[in-house]
Amino acid sequence: MTLWGGRFTSATDELMRHFGDSIGFDRRMYAADIRGSIAYASALALAGIITKEERNQIIAGLEQVRTEFDTGAFQTKPGDEDIHTAVERRLEELMGPIAGKLHTGRSRNDQVTTDLRLYLLDTIAVLRQALIELQVVVVEKAESHPDIVMPGYTHLQPAQPVLFSHWLMSFFWKFQRDHERLTNLTGRLRVCPLGSGALAGNPFNIDRRTLAAELGFASVSENSMDAVSDRDYVVEFLTWAALVQVHLSCLAETLIIWSTREFGFVEIADAYSTGSSIMPQKKNPDSLELIRGKSGRIVGHLVGLLTTLKGLPSTYNKDLQEDKEAVFDVIDTLKKELPIAAGVIHTMQVNAAHMAAAWDDSLLATDLADYLVRKGLPFRQSHHLIGLAVRRSERLAVSLKDLPLVDYQAIHSAFSEDLYEALDFQRSVEARDTQGGTAPLVVRAQIEKAKQLLAQRKLTTRK
Ligand code: ARG
Repeated sequence: MTLWGGRFTSATDELMRHFGDSIGFDRRMYAADIRGSIAYASALALAGIITKEERNQIIAGLEQVRTEFDTGAFQTKPGDEDIHTAVERRLEELMGPIAGKLHTGRSRNDQVTTDLRLYLLDTIAVLRQALIELQVVVVEKAESHPDIVMPGYTHLQPAQPVLFSHWLMSFFWKFQRDHERLTNLTGRLRVCPLGSGALAGNPFNIDRRTLAAELGFASVSENSMDAVSDRDYVVEFLTWAALVQVHLSCLAETLIIWSTREFGFVEIADAYSTGSSIMPQKKNPDSLELIRGKSGRIVGHLVGLLTTLKGLPSTYNKDLQEDKEAVFDVIDTLKKELPIAAGVIHTMQVNAAHMAAAWDDSLLATDLADYLVRKGLPFRQSHHLIGLAVRRSERLAVSLKDLPLVDYQAIHSAFSEDLYEALDFQRSVEARDTQGGTAPLVVRAQIEKAKQLLAQRKLTTRK
């Protein structure tokens, strides 16, 4: 039996029924749905719509349904369109017509968005924990490889020397902002739409504040028409996920390049690699490729939902049912991806010798320009002069270090013997010692700060 069959004279087309069903994916919200119903039964009793005994009976029945879901005993039946219908149908089987009082003044429109908010609030805590664990691994790896100097890249071209630990820590801060965005989103999630009815509000004088508080919401929605149609929070969640994904993808792509034989900066552990069925020598970074590859689906879900929302008139429309599969898929994907990323970083080998072998004096050209600045030349001029020195060294097929002093002095008289001291990788990183720079001492301070932030996070997330 459907929840709405009264005015219909013929049955729904079989294919249409399947087309409209969401039970296949929204049953995972059962706990949230039942929590919402328990709170709503209390609100109905408080408003005098049902008696205390009826409330207690309904709650006991709902708890039994929850146990059936928990233990896997719950059987869906044809006609269970969605999780809300399924729970109510089962409640009625268990306790008879009193179950029918539960839906008084409530609509699946305010119910579904309440469920999804509750579900997201619970899941976000899990995702946040996975993000913290990844950050912990990033910090540990940086801390255990503090002083390795490597070429830093812009445009994927060798740019300036940096510490490997500095590079790795750059991801800590991206993930840190992902936390902040999540906290921000959580504030907007904690608004209770229940009590909005189908679109116009609740006519039974429900105490929405008490209802919201019982469900752990911080406030109640101000406009019922907005509340039943608002999926901004879903878009925000998918946006958040897309950004996390883009961060993971950047990390993955960089490590894929660095794990090639040509770079050899890192070696991905066997545990996160696979072989080839034909080429015996191959070791492929599948873990990282899949992390990178998940970008398509996660960004796709965001664009997909925005596209769905774009065409809608006010208020609830069935199109909104499309929101959930996107959310669930993103959650399932990130739940796997974040620990895999942590595992890859934790187990990968950092090859300092290969990084040092990739040192090239040209990476120190900026240091040489800075050298002339310290001799009193304007930076623009010194930049140009070092460009000439680079050209000269390329013509003579020597490195900047092997270019004779006479050649430098032919370019400008400010050059003297001490210029060769500027051509030093260690000195180059040590020189960048203002906050945020790659100097070993500064990176150590950065790591300390990160550890403090993580300690705070652990305290607040345990609450
Ligand atoms: N399964 C529906 C959804 O996901 C629940 C709300 C149905 N509301 C309705 N008026 N048909 O959006």
